[in-house]
Amino acid sequence: MAAPVRPDDELDLRIESLAYGGNGVARLNGFVVFVRRGLPGDVVRARVTRVKRNHAEALALEVVEAGAPRVDAPCEHYPACGGCRFQDLAYEAQLEAKAAQVDEAFRRIGRVDDPPLEPIVPAESQFHYRNKMEYSFTATPDGPALGFHRAGRWDEVLDIGKCWLTTNLGNAIRAAVRDWARANTLQAYDQAEHTGFLRHLVVREGRNTNQALVQLVTAPGRLDADGFVAALERFPEVRSIHWSVNDRPAEVTNLPTQLLHGVDAIEEELCGLRFRVRPNAFLQTNTAMAERIYELAREFAGLTGEESVYDLYCGIGTIGLMMARDALTVWGIEVSEESVACALENADLNGIANAAFYAGEVGEAIDDLRERAGTPDVAVVDPPRAGLSGKALRRLARLEPQRIVYVSCNPTTLAGNVKELEAEWGYRFMRARPVDMFPHTPHIETVALLERG
Ligand SMILES: C[S@@+](CC[C@H](N)C(=O)[O-])C[C@H]1O[C@@H](n2cnc3c(N)ncnc32)[C@H](O)[C@@H]1O
Repeated sequence: MAAPVRPDDELDLRIESLAYGGNGVARLNGFVVFVRRGLPGDVVRARVTRVKRNHAEALALEVVEAGAPRVDAPCEHYPACGGCRFQDLAYEAQLEAKAAQVDEAFRRIGRVDDPPLEPIVPAESQFHYRNKMEYSFTATPDGPALGFHRAGRWDEVLDIGKCWLTTNLGNAIRAAVRDWARANTLQAYDQAEHTGFLRHLVVREGRNTNQALVQLVTAPGRLDADGFVAALERFPEVRSIHWSVNDRPAEVTNLPTQLLHGVDAIEEELCGLRFRVRPNAFLQTNTAMAERIYELAREFAGLTGEESVYDLYCGIGTIGLMMARDALTVWGIEVSEESVACALENADLNGIANAAFYAGEVGEAIDDLRERAGTPDVAVVDPPRAGLSGKALRRLARLEPQRIVYVSCNPTTLAGNVKELEAEWGYRFMRARPVDMFPHTPHIETVALLERG
């Protein structure tokens, strides 16, 4: 079908649903238009921004007929801030849209006629749920400010007064760092000109331990470390202060760090176990919902105490360690050496002696693990958004674990992997449960169970 629209056309569109990624879906005689800022139920006036062979993209300019169940967005920075996309969509409608996206992914990509989906688990808190925040510095007439990129812009950072996704402590730490930067007339780094000093601030909180870690990222230059530490002195929660220097243009924070104050890692408690959190180690960013996901993964694993469990993409060992008490042995693989070091340390910290962790890429390291550990009865996989690579999936399936528990942060790649495991490797898709870990954002987690035979 020839595309019925052209770039810059303005037209009224009825939004039917939300696609994975958060854009509204509208149809013009069957031709799909993805509408940024379009909410299901609304008719919006939209401008076409891009036309492709099978679909077009558009931006909603105004709501012509309101149909979406709306609420007042509490944040003063909404919708300019790129952090939250759906603060004004009623939470029930967000949940419904996310559950529908998982169902649709299984049907369309997974070719599953009747997906065995269980009801979505709502978030325990709709706000203040994040345990990790990464802010960028920006220059304002009043001096440096800290915040997030404006929605859709890489070159503009909003000065954030109060962020609703972090805690009062998180907001107060950010404000204290901004005040310190202004009092010392420091310069924010300019991404286009490559001038200035202050680049990013990372704040991590152990939500169940009330401990915080702060990492300042600057361009090369002299830092008055004592002054920076003194600016955070009034927060007894801040146990660990680090400094990283980024001498490259890329805006990254996973850099080597120098400890300026306190202990090198804070702790978080998950499912009754303690975990060390260092600046670069992976930790799910919503503590309460990570616990819910891990409990679901444990339930799906159906352990009796006799099993050998592989924890693939294990991060700092959270899933494997919380399953270890119900398993014979646990074997983890993770690509980040820093995370593996944390996993080994976490096993010791919790007195767990039947778990071992190895550094490597899952696709490469899984055969070595088999030689060392034998074949698994249960494999838990928790890959990044790209899902299991062809090689990782094949090598895992060849080991024939009786159960695969799949913790997914992307229903589209999960559905593709489920299809392959069913069609080519003799697995049956038994159950799946979406979990809302990130209210007001397009992200969706899903825990799924596949069984052999
Ligand atoms: C979604 S996280 C899950 C971590 C852990 N299961 C948890 O819940 O905290 C994915 C992890 O996979 C790791 N990773 C990414 N690609 C990998 C690969 N090819 N092989 C092994 N680990 C990988 C990342 O470093 C990250 O720690």
